Amino acid sequence: MEHQLSPAEIEALALRIDRPVVLVGMMGVGKTSVGKRLSALLHMPFVDADEEIERAAQMAIPEIFERFGEAYFRDGERRVIARLLDGPAESRPKVIATGGGAFVNEQTRALVLDQGIAVWLDSDIEVLLERVGRKDNRPLLKQGDPREILTRLKAERESAYAQAPIHVKSGQGPHGRTVVAILEAIDQWL
Ligand code: S3P
Repeated sequence: MEHQLSPAEIEALALRIDRPVVLVGMMGVGKTSVGKRLSALLHMPFVDADEEIERAAQMAIPEIFERFGEAYFRDGERRVIARLLDGPAESRPKVIATGGGAFVNEQTRALVLDQGIAVWLDSDIEVLLERVGRKDNRPLLKQGDPREILTRLKAERESAYAQAPIHVKSGQGPHGRTVVAILEAIDQWL
């Protein structure tokens, strides 16, 4: 079954959410796919921070990294996420998927923790590897062996991700299960 919470319970939960729900975690964990499903169930807008960065820069992410470097990208990422988190009260509830490094940046993390509900989506390396293999648009994975890079980044980033108040594991199974786990975790946390 896709979700245990009834539509009425999900609707009641959505009404209690007054801030953006911000998905953080490693590349390949499924932040965008899960975020889209979550936003549909909650009847809230979905925004993908990476897409917004590309729109603002008028450039694809690999090109930003190539031409200007990672530090420049992180700066743009922080500004875009600040804008997405901000806004009038009635348009604040939404689901934001962030890029894997966003929450590792101290300033971006502080903004998200202050203004959003941060949800750490977490998977094993095997699951991440399988999922990142489907796309070829991640500059950090082009710098060597993807397994080694993901293993190193996961270890380096875990203490930052762990600062999110909500931690949800996403396994091999369908994303629908992860979405339910997120809804239940937010319900308990609020
Ligand atoms: C990055 C993850 C990417 C993207 C950029 C850097 C990272 O987003 O922001 O390539 O540092 O982990 P996804 O997590 O959506 O792949």
